[in-house]
Amino acid sequence: MRFMPIQSILDGKYEDKSVAIRGWVYRKREGKQTIFLVVRDSTGVIQCTVKADSPAWSEAEKITIESSLTIEGTVKKDQRAPGGYEVSAEKLSVIGLADVFPISKDKSEEFLRDIRHLWLRSRRMNLVMKVRADVLEFTREFFKDQGFVEVSPPMFISAAVEGGSTLFGLKYFDQNLYLTQSSQLYLEILIYSLEKVYCIAPSFRAEKSRTIRHLTEYWHIEGEWPFADMNDLMQFEEELLAHVCKRAAEKCGKEFEELGADTSKVASVETPFPKITYTEAVERLKAKGIERKWGEDFGYDDEKALADEFGKPFFVYDYPTAIKAFYCKTYRNHPEVAMSADMLVPRIGEISTGGAREDDKDVLIKRIREMGLSEKDYDWYLDLRRYGTVPHVGFGMGLERLLTWMLDLENIIDSIPFPRTIRRFYP
Ligand code: 4AD
Ligand code: MG
Repeated sequence: MRFMPIQSILDGKYEDKSVAIRGWVYRKREGKQTIFLVVRDSTGVIQCTVKADSPAWSEAEKITIESSLTIEGTVKKDQRAPGGYEVSAEKLSVIGLADVFPISKDKSEEFLRDIRHLWLRSRRMNLVMKVRADVLEFTREFFKDQGFVEVSPPMFISAAVEGGSTLFGLKYFDQNLYLTQSSQLYLEILIYSLEKVYCIAPSFRAEKSRTIRHLTEYWHIEGEWPFADMNDLMQFEEELLAHVCKRAAEKCGKEFEELGADTSKVASVETPFPKITYTEAVERLKAKGIERKWGEDFGYDDEKALADEFGKPFFVYDYPTAIKAFYCKTYRNHPEVAMSADMLVPRIGEISTGGAREDDKDVLIKRIREMGLSEKDYDWYLDLRRYGTVPHVGFGMGLERLLTWMLDLENIIDSIPFPRTIRRFYP
């Protein structure tokens, strides 16, 4: 038998025709003369009606929520049915009869997160995961158009990228290794062969903060390329974001709408983005009554205050060297300022960090020592400056922060199928 995707029926392709569908029972309502089953497959949900005189009646009576089944019937156009079409069922076969399903209407967010392996079947999670897949596709599309090569860096690493405080250590046979916080240093290796490289890979942070924007395992979109400066970097990042947003507005409108997200926000993203220096950001905060001494890092509240003012994506650049990682390139005449830029968006704050990398071996060694790191750990990284060093830039954008912003999700946890946080690692 040929089964039709539910969405194709909702698209009106089978009006008054016989169809066969297969999927799971999403909802069930029983009347004396009619049983209403809302059936879902990966593509959509449709209402099926079973009449008391139909041969499908006895099966429909015993079927439970989340049972798997096949239905054969006739498609009817019906304004009252959600989606505008329904299937009048003539035959129903139960494939797997479900026990009483633990998820019902009034369950708390907390409960739904504990039972994630079943909650992922919800329409809401189905839609989020589809948009997530599309955003990955649009991201790859952009990198590819720009001549970038996708590479595969390691997740087991022997030295920190972003500082020790958020580093996960692990036993690796009889050695101590770490889970990577960023693939940047490995991308830097690969630019000497492939020039423009990117990866989309997991990054890990031993992040104790329980906020709407922190995970301990997240997917990191990272790019790195040579012969480029800060202007090239920010231009690339803003064009990437604009491309992803434009494509999402074109292709994911239905999903956005069903999720209650505003497509006009992504549709209206335009380049160039506003750009302010860290020093200007400190002044803007001051004008709002938030006192930050030059040299202090911004927290979530500071970023949010700045972002609310812009109401759209923007950059803050030229941060104090002291709050940035060892690899950041500094201005030769102002070594206290690093060539580093963050992209910020409303409600979430930072969604990316990028910058120019220190390409002078001696300055880099000095920075490694100043930060109390071991030169030996970074010997291979220093080799990149010994053999044909080149000015280069790169950035990392958190996929989940991007999605949380795009889809107006309440919490980053809902942008990834299996969230990992300080308290969550099951299932
Ligand atoms: O700002 P971060 O730490 O920068 C880097 O890792 C650079 N090495 C990237 C690079 O230049 N290749 O992290 C980059 C981005 C952040 O802006 C944020 O979007 C995301 O990664 N991120 C997190 N997302 C979710 N949960 C966390 N705990 C995150 N930490 C960082
Ligand atoms: Mg950052």
